[in-house]
Amino acid sequence: MKILIVGSGGREHAIAWKLSQSPKADKIYCAPGNAGIAEYAECVDIGAMEFDRLVAFAKEKGIDLTVIGMDDPLVGGVVDAFEAAGLRVFGPRKNAAVLEGSKAFSKDLMKKYHIPTAAYETFDDSQKALAYLETAKMPVVLKADGLALGKGVLICNTLEEAREGVKTIMEEKKFGAAGSRMVVEEFMTGREVSVLSYVDGKTIKPMTSAQDHKRAGDGDTGLNTGGMGTFSPSPFYTEEADAFCKKYIFQPTVDAMAAEGRPFKGIIFFGLMLTEDGPKVLEYNARFGDPEAQVVLPRMKNDIVDVFEACIDGTLDQIDLQFEDNACVCVVLASEGYPVSYKKGFPIKGLDTVKEHEGYYCFHAGSAFKDGRIVTNGGRVLGLSALGSDLVEARANAYKAVEWVDFENKYYRHDIGKAIDEA
Ligand code: AMP
Ligand code: GLY
Repeated sequence: MKILIVGSGGREHAIAWKLSQSPKADKIYCAPGNAGIAEYAECVDIGAMEFDRLVAFAKEKGIDLTVIGMDDPLVGGVVDAFEAAGLRVFGPRKNAAVLEGSKAFSKDLMKKYHIPTAAYETFDDSQKALAYLETAKMPVVLKADGLALGKGVLICNTLEEAREGVKTIMEEKKFGAAGSRMVVEEFMTGREVSVLSYVDGKTIKPMTSAQDHKRAGDGDTGLNTGGMGTFSPSPFYTEEADAFCKKYIFQPTVDAMAAEGRPFKGIIFFGLMLTEDGPKVLEYNARFGDPEAQVVLPRMKNDIVDVFEACIDGTLDQIDLQFEDNACVCVVLASEGYPVSYKKGFPIKGLDTVKEHEGYYCFHAGSAFKDGRIVTNGGRVLGLSALGSDLVEARANAYKAVEWVDFENKYYRHDIGKAIDEA
């Protein structure tokens, strides 16, 4: 089979690696890819939003399966463009990717189908939002409606902060057009857990759980990022929580989308908060998490080509999805200054050392070739994932790998997986 992956981050590197393990994958391409992905795939210089060029490339090369890694093209309708050209593609259509693309849509869906989530109100008008806040209980959470690179969420402790937040989102449009509409949400407390799942329109097969670390600094300080590290499984995601989610959240979400005439095929990523009143949905994403994929995929036993195809064909009920009884931890190496401003173009040393060790993975998030060397090319540069028989061992291994790799202005959190000690 010839396979095309669309995307260029650590998540797509993990997908490329996992696809490369399949005996069915004869040739893998990635658009646009990066210097790490190039080890498994031929990278082609086409942007993820250039749908016409992607479709033309897939036709020209006779691609049998295209896998979309990123949210922007999904929400923009890349799957519809591929399907219209008669091409097989893994991911939700535009009318289903809205589950991630609009917070207002997803909140309304949850309300209509009684899926547990934080109480909320939606506003198109900043004056009405401000009036509502006068009586709201603090802290309160403000969310820009559309895609905002995971940054359109403000947690406001006081009324004053909330007023400022409305201005930032709706008036100054700091998160762009995503801020024309806003959701104001009740603040929830508890542990966060990510559960990614494969969906074929009617059947859902959840993967093993994971936990992200969204803030830039140790001790969950600093700005929100795309994710600074992950571990899998989450020891806080108990069998009881899992049973609750399967019954009240996972299948009901798939059924709700089907009932709305928006059957979802692809990945649903459930961002959950384990509250005192049980698990509740924080957010939905319509694709693998980054860096959740970097700890979940190394633990997955199945041939991922079979699972992707079953999702497309509506035969996921026939797949026995299995994960290793081990653990994985990923520590992200970023450029100092991320997520605000940072320098790039520095040579990366030590990549071969990771390759020499089994059970260790270096997934590239932002790297490029320059003068025959691999250099840093982003805020998040690499994700170093390591397996272990349990979380404690996996964490020690991941931090060992952190020492093997070096580049100028290397920055990382020292406390990825610290929560494991509290389990
Ligand atoms: P989201 O993009 O919706 O997942 O929000 C980003 C982060 O903001 C989440 O991972 C949570 O840490 C936090 N957050 C979002 N919604 C809430 C909420 N209702 N209560 C508490 N924290 C929240
Ligand atoms: N790591 C969070 C995300 O992919 O949205």
